[in-house]
Amino acid sequence: MRFNSYAAKVLVKRVLLIIGGGIAAYKCLDLIRRLRERDLAVRVVLTKAAQEFVTPLSVSALTNDRVFTDLFDLDDEREIGHIRLSREADLIVVAPATADLLARMANGIANDLATAVILAADKPVLAAPAMNPRMWLNPATQRNVARLAGDGIHFIGPNEGEMAERGEAGPGRMAEVPELVSAIEKLLSSKLSAGRLPLSGRHVLVTSGPTHEPIDPVRYIANRSSGKQGHAIAAAAAKLGARVTLIAGPVALADPVGVTVHHIETAEEMLEAVKEALPADIAILAAAVADWRIDAPAAGKIKKGAKASPPSLALTENPDILKTIAARNAHRPALVIGFAAETESVVEQATAKRRAKGADWIVANDVSPAAGVFGGDRNTVHLITGGGAETWPQMTKAEVAERLVMRAAEHLAKTQISV
Ligand code: CTP
Repeated sequence: MRFNSYAAKVLVKRVLLIIGGGIAAYKCLDLIRRLRERDLAVRVVLTKAAQEFVTPLSVSALTNDRVFTDLFDLDDEREIGHIRLSREADLIVVAPATADLLARMANGIANDLATAVILAADKPVLAAPAMNPRMWLNPATQRNVARLAGDGIHFIGPNEGEMAERGEAGPGRMAEVPELVSAIEKLLSSKLSAGRLPLSGRHVLVTSGPTHEPIDPVRYIANRSSGKQGHAIAAAAAKLGARVTLIAGPVALADPVGVTVHHIETAEEMLEAVKEALPADIAILAAAVADWRIDAPAAGKIKKGAKASPPSLALTENPDILKTIAARNAHRPALVIGFAAETESVVEQATAKRRAKGADWIVANDVSPAAGVFGGDRNTVHLITGGGAETWPQMTKAEVAERLVMRAAEHLAKTQISV
């Protein structure tokens, strides 16, 4: 998979740091800062013993994320779970790796969250041992380390030097933070963690195209949406490794490669298909859903001369799919993105629409006839988030799609290790 330079720049790697119970645990606070400075996402598991040295509060202030401590915290097991904690990292770092942690790791023991996460790991694990020199040199520890190295665990340190205990010196000091950072960077850039794309493991749900609302079996009301933008978004998300479900209205476009497509016609069918496709990590609702449908479509073709005057069409409002999805408690996607097609005061109207619909982001575009957006290949958009509005330069719909899904991937990686 080739990344354009924008994609490469924002690719976020995720480190799961397991802090063990040793005096060197304090170094991990600095380690977290250094990793975050390098734009790495850091999530932390603290062992029970580690909490004697650093508090969950101080760690969480640095990671800007919750800290995980307990295997039997039912909420966590339901929402996150040790398997997911483990799966959703690119690298697991154990620091300080105490003699006790190494012994449990070497024997496949999983009697707390830290060891359960390590045992479930399918990613590289880096251990930074730290302990008293006699404990390190003890044949039992050496046996455990040799076994773990044989199992493919990576080690950094320990270094030689003065110990926290007065008068004790020898091998057992945890590697210094700069050494840890460079070992982590090396492992993250190595082949071991390659192959992971920014949206690997994510489910992205996209709506695209217009909807057709029947008047009778042969006539319908519709709009000028071509579906090009929505389809390009589905294709871009698939290229970034996501499992993509596209709910497409009637369009003259081929189904994007590697995407599961459900073809629907009406707004009500689109809403049903969207609900069925949940849960998803990201929902990008780009369809130009018809705001109204015919109250009572005729079962047979309405004949021209049947009445003295032309038939009048009574309309009913369609469900608002974006608003419905954004308001859900169960299975609300972590990131709900809507579009706003406006012909005047684009940013103002879209900002109001973001609030009114409960969307996280709104992609606003100018659809006045002069802008040539409907059916065209280029788009000038404004991204409206909780932080304000940013205007993107004019680009093709494919470029808008790539940039949008990369932004979404980056946002998810920063705000949560996963869904
Ligand atoms: N949308 C939706 N369901 C609807 C209408 C709109 O999910 N019944 C979504 C669109 O997919 C888009 C966003 O809402 O992501 C905004 O669509 P837009 O047509 O600009 O807004 P409307 O709600 O129709 O408001 P108005 O036409 O009054 O500007």
